[in-house]
Order: sequence, then C-alpha cells, then structure tokens
Amino acid sequence: MTRILAVANQKGGVGKTTTSVNLAASLVAMKRRVLVIDLDPQGNATTGAGVDKRALRDTVYQVLLGERAIADVRIPSPTAGFDLVPANRDLGAPRSSSCRCPSARRGSRTRSPTRSAR
Ligand SMILES: Nc1ncnc2c1ncn2[C@@H]1O[C@H](COP(=O)(O)OP(=O)(O)OP(=O)(O)O)[C@@H](O)[C@H]1O
Ligand SMILES: [Mg+2]
Repeated sequence: MTRILAVANQKGGVGKTTTSVNLAASLVAMKRRVLVIDLDPQGNATTGAGVDKRALRDTVYQVLLGERAIADVRIPSPTAGFDLVPANRDLGAPRSSSCRCPSARRGSRTRSPTRSAR
C-alpha cells in the first residue's frame, strides 16, 4: 500500500528537510520503496539526496506546470537509495503564463523571499 507523508511547518529552520531526507533513508533501510518530492525552491532535499540542483534541466516545477510527468523528472539519489523529484530556484520564479501574480505578469523573475540556498 502506498502512503504519502508530508512534512510541513510554517516556521522556518525547524528541521523539516532534515526529517524528510532521514525518514526517507530510514524507510529505504527497511526495504521500502520511497519517492521524495522536493517542493521547496531552496532545493535542500535535492542537495541532501546527493543531487546537484544547479545542473538540473527539469524539476518539480515542470511537473507543476503540466509540462512533464513525475516519471520524466524522477531520478535516483546517487547516495541515499530513494528516488527523488528534485527542485531548485526555478520553483520560486513563476512564469507569466502560469501565474496571476502582478510581478510575473510584468515579466519579472523576482525570486520568492526564501532564505538563501545552503
Ligand atoms: N534534530 C536536529 N538536531 C540538531 N540540528 C538539526 C536537527 N534537525 C535539523 N537540524 C539542523 O537545523 C538546520 C535547519 O534544518 P532544516 O534545513 O532541515 O530545516 P527546515 O525546516 O527544512 O528549514 P527551511 O524552513 O529553511 O526549509 C540545519 O542546519 C540542520 O542541520
Ligand atoms: Mg527545508
């Protein structure tokens, strides 16, 4: 049976990503098949999975836009044993065609006010 686990908290820096990556690795150690979906433009879960977020062409961003399927962007973690749908800063820069926010309509590529990527 498939289970979906979401790790969320409105407070920043409280260990959401650390919990997610280590929980995923622990489940892999228990012989479970795990897919981690990174939905943060910081891409820290992607980095934590051993993937260079700056080298990615397609990420969860293209999935959310409907341009790619999850199966097209999922990649195996080279270090952690689970599969990953990666994210990077593209997720914080909505395109005018996909977003109603005023800055995007003006063609701005302004990033979301997240903490800088580590
Ligand atoms: N159990 C823990 N004990 C000590 N330090 C921890 C623990 N869990 C996480 N940390 C540290 O706390 C910091 C923040 O962790 P993490 O990036 O997982 O938080 P986050 O909630 O995902 O942050 P953000 O809101 O920026 O996405 C990191 O430096 C991490 O190494
Ligand atoms: Mg995080």
